[in-house]
Amino acid sequence: MISLAAVKAKCGECFRPALRGISWVILSFTLNAAAHAEDGAHVYSSRCAACHQSDGKGVDGRCPPLRQSLSGWLATPQGRSYLVAAALYGPVGELKVDGKTYSSIMPAMGRRMNDDEIVAVLRYVGENLNTPPAGYQPFDAALVASLRSSPTAEDSLMADRGKLPPR
Ligand code: HEC
Repeated sequence: MISLAAVKAKCGECFRPALRGISWVILSFTLNAAAHAEDGAHVYSSRCAACHQSDGKGVDGRCPPLRQSLSGWLATPQGRSYLVAAALYGPVGELKVDGKTYSSIMPAMGRRMNDDEIVAVLRYVGENLNTPPAGYQPFDAALVASLRSSPTAEDSLMADRGKLPPR
């Protein structure tokens, strides 16, 4: 059986130009001092927008949208946990959003981002690209840390998604 890590290692999308890496080191040094919700816009534009697009509309067939369709998931602990795990580990394989199929691989952003950056970017997605629903609890570093240290969250990512209502 091929491990997820091996599949991702083979995926060209996982490698980023060195120059971008260097500018991110400089940027993340600045952001780390106080990564809070308002930094989320910067984190999103440097870490997510290349694929999910700056307004979160995604790319048909390749990168699912992150805007205006996440309310149901944002309202529940299971939905929020899945969003954190998706950002940390990156979904692999077929998924459906609004009846459209996406079948691709997302790099595991948790390897390049700390917990505060994950919190900041998910709060930006949840609160700026989507309208936070009733029942929404802001993402926090404790939730990110618990999923990062979970021995099962990566392997159960797609199964956990399958238990959520369709979006
Ligand atoms: C290199 C491109 C790329 C980057 C960078 C990227 N993503 Fe993704 N993302 C994807 C792809 C492709 C998928 C769908 C994978 C699949 O088809 O299984 C995805 C899926 C997701 C999902 C799950 C959506 C769902 O319906 O299950 C979330 C949440 C997500 N990305 C958030 C983020 C966040 C937050 C960032 C930035 C920190 C980010 N992504 C950066 C390509 C990317």
